Amino acid sequence: MDIGGRTAVVTGAARRVGRSIALGLADAGARVFVHYNRSAEPAEELLAEIESRGGKAAIGSVDLSQPELAADLIDMATKALGEVSILVNSASGFATDTIEDVSLDGWLRSHNLTLASPVFLTKRFAELIGDGSTGAVVNITDVRTMAPYHKHFSYVIAKGGIDTFTRTAALSLAPRIRVNAVALGVILPPPGEDAAYVEALAAELPLQRVGGTDPVVMAALGLIRNDFVTGEIIRVDGGAHLT
Ligand SMILES: NC(=O)c1ccc[n+]([C@@H]2O[C@H](COP(=O)([O-])OP(=O)(O)OC[C@H]3O[C@@H](n4cnc5c(N)ncnc54)[C@H](OP(=O)(O)O)[C@@H]3O)[C@@H](O)[C@H]2O)c1
Repeated sequence: MDIGGRTAVVTGAARRVGRSIALGLADAGARVFVHYNRSAEPAEELLAEIESRGGKAAIGSVDLSQPELAADLIDMATKALGEVSILVNSASGFATDTIEDVSLDGWLRSHNLTLASPVFLTKRFAELIGDGSTGAVVNITDVRTMAPYHKHFSYVIAKGGIDTFTRTAALSLAPRIRVNAVALGVILPPPGEDAAYVEALAAELPLQRVGGTDPVVMAALGLIRNDFVTGEIIRVDGGAHLT
C-alpha cells in the first residue's frame, strides 16, 4: 500500500508513541487525523507541526473509555479528511492492579479503553471502506502479553485480547483490509517514571538499550506498506522475548 494520499487515523496521537507514528505517516504523505483525549494543546501543536512540514491533518477528541463513541471518531475523521484507509490503534491505559486486588470497575475500564475501543474503531473503519478500496489497521500491543506482568493484570490481559483480535480481524476482513500489530518492549518510560527506570530495564535486554519511538514507526509503516502481510505481530523489543 502506498501511504501517500491516504487518510490515516491515529488514536492517542498527541504525545509519545502515537505522536511519532502520526508524524511518520504525515511525512510519508498521509492526511492524518490526530485523535486525543485530554492532550488538546499537544494535539494542536502536532497539527501545526504537520502543516509546517507541508502535510494535511485534523484533530479531534473522543473519550475511548466509552467504546460506544468509537464509531464517532471514524466518522469525524472521514468528514474532516475523506475516506479513512489506515487506522493505528495506539491509545491505551496502563492501570496497575493484580489478580488479588482487581475490581470489576477497574477491569472493565481497562478492557473498554485498551480492547473494546480498538475493536469498535476497526468495525466502523471496515464498514466505511468502499468496495473498491483497501485498508490497513495496525494495533499497538505489548510483548509482555507473552511474559505477563504481575502488576498490570487487567492491562496485559486486554493487550492479549488485542493479539487475538489482530489475528481474528485479519482473517475476517481479508482480502481488502489487512490487520497487523506491533508489540512494544522498553520503548519509553511509562508515565510518571524517568529515564533511569527504563535504562535499568534496558540493561537486561540482548540489545542493551531503550528503543525510543523510531523503531516503532518503522515497524508500523512497514506493516502498512507490505501488502502480503496480515495477522502478523512484530516485536519491537530489543530481543526481550529471547531471554
Ligand atoms: N511506552 C512503552 O514503552 C510501551 C511499551 C509497551 C506497550 N506500549 C503501548 O504502546 C502504545 C503507546 O504507548 P504510550 O506509552 O505512548 O502510551 P500512553 O502515553 O500511556 O498513552 C497514549 C495515549 O492514550 C490516550 N488515552 C488515555 N486514556 C484515553 C481515553 N480514555 N480515551 C482516549 N484516549 C486515551 C492518551 O491521550 P491524551 O494524552 O490525549 O489524554 C495518551 O496520550 C500503547 O498502546 C501502549 O500500551 C508502550
